[in-house]
Amino acid sequence: MVNTAILGIQWGDEGKGKIVHMLSEHSDVVCRYQGGNNAGHTVITEGKKIVLHLIPSGIIKESKICIIGNGVVVNPYAFKEELEMLEQMDIDYKGRLFVSNRANLIMPYHIKLDGINEESRGIGTTKRGIGPAYTYKYARSGIRVCDLFEKEYLNRMIDLILKDVNPVLRSHGKEETEKRDIFNTIEEFKEILAPFITDTTILIHDLLNKGKTVLFEGAQGALLDIDFGTYPYVTSSNPTVGGIFTGLGIGPKAVKNIIGISKAYTTRVGAGPFPTELNNETGELIRKKGGEYGASTGRPRRCGWFDAVAARYGAMICGINSIAMTKFDILDKFKTIKVCTAYEIDGKVRKDFPANAAELERAKPIYEEYPGWDKTAGVNRYEDLPDNAKKYIKILEDMIGVDISIISNGPDEKQTIIRDSNLL
Ligand code: GDP
Ligand code: IMO
Ligand code: MG
Repeated sequence: MVNTAILGIQWGDEGKGKIVHMLSEHSDVVCRYQGGNNAGHTVITEGKKIVLHLIPSGIIKESKICIIGNGVVVNPYAFKEELEMLEQMDIDYKGRLFVSNRANLIMPYHIKLDGINEESRGIGTTKRGIGPAYTYKYARSGIRVCDLFEKEYLNRMIDLILKDVNPVLRSHGKEETEKRDIFNTIEEFKEILAPFITDTTILIHDLLNKGKTVLFEGAQGALLDIDFGTYPYVTSSNPTVGGIFTGLGIGPKAVKNIIGISKAYTTRVGAGPFPTELNNETGELIRKKGGEYGASTGRPRRCGWFDAVAARYGAMICGINSIAMTKFDILDKFKTIKVCTAYEIDGKVRKDFPANAAELERAKPIYEEYPGWDKTAGVNRYEDLPDNAKKYIKILEDMIGVDISIISNGPDEKQTIIRDSNLL
């Protein structure tokens, strides 16, 4: 296997956790490079379900090195909870899990501010403090992992931060943040993170130089990207391919293969335009069959047909070489299956993905309808898939312009058809 990026090309929750877990068998290192514990990556292995938010999905397989890069925003309390979960599952992470000394921390006031912003904006964030943590990072008012040990710097920075934060908290009737509480939090953060803090940029370059194989585990998806997504209904980082380089400190040549993950239909959690959303029995059926409830927040996911315009755009901006398409089994037994091939916006047929969320809100999907199939669940060879499922795969490949090299027909890593053995 070559160094491979696994990126969502829709609105997140495409099944990245499953695919990363499966491919981690063939790699030495798994890195997260953006986002934070807004992610919820589900892995089903040996009948057990594990949801990871911050720690790379590679941690489940023994001896894989896992890196949380500088581009990730880290909430040490959430990190600790995940460590405890791993301990309960007898997964030994000691000596193979590393957190970047350059990563920005999610502070308790970021979480409070996320709640306040959410009340007025209704973006449907995960309320994990992600947006404010990145806002403070770019405003050069962040606290990074390496700053935890610099008392003087912290003293000065915290005074500046509180001048910003407390008037906002006060004006929303929330309890103000005290300097000594932040220092107490910092002491706790130091204790939690100390064994893991590393210059992960040096580490990853060392590993690459030694010829180790690396998997880059994206969080969220292309359509939630701060630059390319359905702004402002997006997350505050770059889940698209560029995030890997800034989020780890490596050059583009280190990534040899880019796999885009997509569901065989579409889901979205949180607010924002979603042209193929089905607010009817079919949408309800997909949600029920697909267990479409957020892995982080438990919120019901909005469900709809496959949107080829959006997926083609997601694939393009991530520069993917092939697609891993998940959840084929959920479309089993549908009499017919629809695919959105274009939008009608303000009376015009459009095949491009608009930059403006307001425009996308007005998009009416133009569908093509195809005959369904009986069963893909339980099939483990491409040849044995029902003809109509194979036709559906071919149609989507032609529409997106990229091969579907992995077909996932169940949540377990074994429920996967790999059409291109070079991926392993
Ligand atoms: P991620 O955020 O991209 O890692 O995806 P999530 O874990 O949030 O959501 C994907 C959900 O679909 C999880 O519950 C997975 O266990 C499940 N899943 C992944 N692939 C398949 C599949 O092919 N079929 C079925 N039935 N479930 C799948
Ligand atoms: P994974 O990695 C799906 C969505 C939120 C909200 C928007 C902004 O599991 O695919 P944020 O808390 O990031 O400020 O929220 O982004 N969102 C996700 N949706 N999967 C995710 O991650 C998501 N992470 C954030 O629902 O609409
Ligand atoms: Mg998820």
